[in-house]
Amino acid sequence: MSEQQSQQPNMYANGASGNGHHSGSNGHGEQNSGGSASPAGVFSPRFAQIVGWGYHVPDKVITNFDLEQIVDTQDEWIRTRTGIEERHVAAAPSETSATLGILAGRAALEMADVSPSKVDLIICATSSPEHIFPSTASIIQDGLGASNAGAFDLSAACSGFVYGLSMARGHILAGDAEYVLVIGAETLSRIVDWTDRGTCVLFGDGAGAVLVAASDVPGGITATVLGSDGSGADLLTVPAGGSAMPTSLETVSSGGHYIKMDGTAVFRFATRVMAEATRQVLGKAGLSVEDVDLVIPHQANVRIIQNSVLKQLKIPEDKVFVNLQKYGNTSTASIPIALCEAIEAGKIKPGDNLVFVGFGAGLTWASCAIKWSVPIVKQEATWWHNTQRQATYQAAAARSMWKRAIRRVYSQFPAESRWGGRKDESEVG
Ligand code: ACO
Repeated sequence: MSEQQSQQPNMYANGASGNGHHSGSNGHGEQNSGGSASPAGVFSPRFAQIVGWGYHVPDKVITNFDLEQIVDTQDEWIRTRTGIEERHVAAAPSETSATLGILAGRAALEMADVSPSKVDLIICATSSPEHIFPSTASIIQDGLGASNAGAFDLSAACSGFVYGLSMARGHILAGDAEYVLVIGAETLSRIVDWTDRGTCVLFGDGAGAVLVAASDVPGGITATVLGSDGSGADLLTVPAGGSAMPTSLETVSSGGHYIKMDGTAVFRFATRVMAEATRQVLGKAGLSVEDVDLVIPHQANVRIIQNSVLKQLKIPEDKVFVNLQKYGNTSTASIPIALCEAIEAGKIKPGDNLVFVGFGAGLTWASCAIKWSVPIVKQEATWWHNTQRQATYQAAAARSMWKRAIRRVYSQFPAESRWGGRKDESEVG
């Protein structure tokens, strides 16, 4: 049992023992939870709690003044029209969506004091994946040494992180997973057109992660709302590089692989759905606007936040967390990074009702209601614990290199000897 677990009796009472839990009503009248049957047949409620959180942003910072040197823009315009003052950008080639995601994922696991081998599923929401395939999530899984985890990418643009929380909750309440790592990871600077002042001033890079765990403590992620309106697909898009417009000399020379956006139309859509999705999820969770302790909205533009959650829902400013001035719009990473900073700022305490709400390309939107039920205090890791952790990461890297090396050696042998004298399946008539 981990340090944190030993201090939170019943928190992980369902353990990390793999499958065998049942979905559906728990027979205890508990709202929105699944349940698990004990050997004695007693049905215990099951909840999806965020038990770990972490983020990582690249060191390099680009200020609005730096952007003045690149495009025809002004610090004053960017600050008053968006609220953004600076953003972090992946400068080194080794900084990719996966490497940022690995660092955020490690931080979340360390916070929860859970070993990577206990993770059942990794969901990486990203708008700037490493490749069309393999998934960024699989690369993160390998980098973390999460050898027992399934992994997949989730494409719902900036709403992706909240979509991921909804998936994590579903897997946990169905009894299919004990620990799900949900990561939002972005290197949008690699798909931004640095000559387009309408978009390049908006985005930033970074990654945030949360570990969602099965628990018998009531609360956690209690309700989610997911939405999509594909009729607005052309309003925010990277047109080329997929099956609709495969990469060619022409798509590259015309900049078809960069973000294209109708900012005004996205703005209008966003202010409407942010308020609606917040109202809907509160209704599902059986809460009123007055019950909300903190809203963590997608950090795209401070005016969108003001015109939606503040003005339409009349939620006071001190109950809405904003940090976009430091990071710009980091798409799927914006809500988990904001969550970490809200916790650091002492804005969240056990018993609080939180709402996460986001919107993005698709068009998509998503919201979730969370009853925060876990202690905020991080256990200080001992020297021994830290050494063990470093050893786990090094072992993961060594295992990955070893597997690659074995595959390379193996591929040198002729097919017949590889199959022990039998023919490769493709050679069998
Ligand atoms: N610097 C200076 N002037 C600029 C800049 C800039 N960076 N960008 C645009 N302008 C100019 C325009 O050219 C225009 O000039 P004009 O009147 O001479 O034609 C003027 O400023 C006003 O332009 P608008 O586009 O009307 O400005 P607006 O107030 O709508 O702000 C913005 C633009 C910030 C893009 C806003 O529309 C917005 O935030 N939209 C939502 C975008 C968003 O959140 N996208 C992310 C979605 S999440 C995802 O899935 C990735």
